Amino acid sequence: MAIYFDNAATSWPKPPAVRDALAEYFDEAGGNPGRSGHRMSVAAARLVENAREKLAELFNVADPSRIVFTHNATHALNVALMGLLHPGDHVVTTSLEHNSVMRPLRHLETLGVELTSVACTPEGLLDADGVGRALRPNTRLLVTTHASNVVGTLMPIGALSRLARERKITYLVDASQTAGAIPIDLHEVNVDVLAFSGHKGLLGPTGTGGMCIREGVVLAPLMRGGTGSDSAHEIQPDFLPDAFESGTQNVAGIAGLGAGVRFLLEIGIDTVRMHEQQLVAEFLSGASEIPGIILYGPRDAALHCGVVSFNVAGAMPSEVALILDESFAIMARSGLHCAPAVHRALGTFPTGTVRFSFGWFNTPAEVQRALEALREVASWAGEGKEAAKTWTA
Ligand SMILES: Cc1ncc(COP(=O)(O)O)c(C=O)c1O
Repeated sequence: MAIYFDNAATSWPKPPAVRDALAEYFDEAGGNPGRSGHRMSVAAARLVENAREKLAELFNVADPSRIVFTHNATHALNVALMGLLHPGDHVVTTSLEHNSVMRPLRHLETLGVELTSVACTPEGLLDADGVGRALRPNTRLLVTTHASNVVGTLMPIGALSRLARERKITYLVDASQTAGAIPIDLHEVNVDVLAFSGHKGLLGPTGTGGMCIREGVVLAPLMRGGTGSDSAHEIQPDFLPDAFESGTQNVAGIAGLGAGVRFLLEIGIDTVRMHEQQLVAEFLSGASEIPGIILYGPRDAALHCGVVSFNVAGAMPSEVALILDESFAIMARSGLHCAPAVHRALGTFPTGTVRFSFGWFNTPAEVQRALEALREVASWAGEGKEAAKTWTA
């Protein structure tokens, strides 16, 4: 049986209920939600609203209309960054960010937004005090990931949200790697905009994502158009979620996302978290015993989401991922993982790392099989290195 360790890119497999929800949309509710009054349009709208309610429950948000659907986390992050920042504003971010944050920010920099990126430690951790020191009187926004998609480290979003609140700065969190995998309670933590992927930890289909916008946050939409509401007016509605949901939604995908979230709520996010943390702990302890495996990030699984990064001495990360796939049927990702800056801190730029990202459906037995495979790959690479040395001499 093949092993899928690429859940940070997109989760696999999806629960059967997710496939069923897609079938339900195509078979019974194939209309366009909110556009017509007929039964299939109403049934489609019900699927979308059910998914919205489940996400509100997951993030402990009282008003489901604060949840806006987008095509993915990148889309949500672009809406938030473009809508919140204006020339002359200062924004603080970190060296752990994915390009879905960094590229829009670098673009905004060319339009006159000032940008400060706070460096992480060589282990990929972030010091909240360092972020505090980067804030200025004109800082409009703090944007951080909740967990690094490269090294898996969790960011202190509680401390950062208190800091942002004290300084009256809007706080945007990229929860792409944590939504559905780590408990997030928006009643407890003062995050102003939380962007999430629907197709990773939330177990929905690709082409789904969204954001949760706290009441009082002033955010301009990126796109304007038909919403099926307030149609007599040529001005974009300003109420949620319609203000940000112009055009026909990915209804099949959202129905699947709703089923994914329902599945997770039944298991309980604490249980998902414990399971993934156990897989990380087993991997870290096993891998640290294998000569030739270089682990990145802290050894404590409690500081990680379900993501770990490593290299094999004497082999390129791309080579290791290829061997794992072709010889051991283990699917992993190699390279920079769309987050180049963190690799400079880890010392892995420009070739990157091999990443294993665990999900709910992975098992301890799969981790053990992967450790055995790595033992073989590391010994092969070690021998190769020796041979290369002899040859050079
Ligand atoms: C930390 C982080 N942010 C953003 C994204 C982008 O997510 P999406 O593919 O849903 O746009 C990813 C995807 O890997 C990610 O890991």
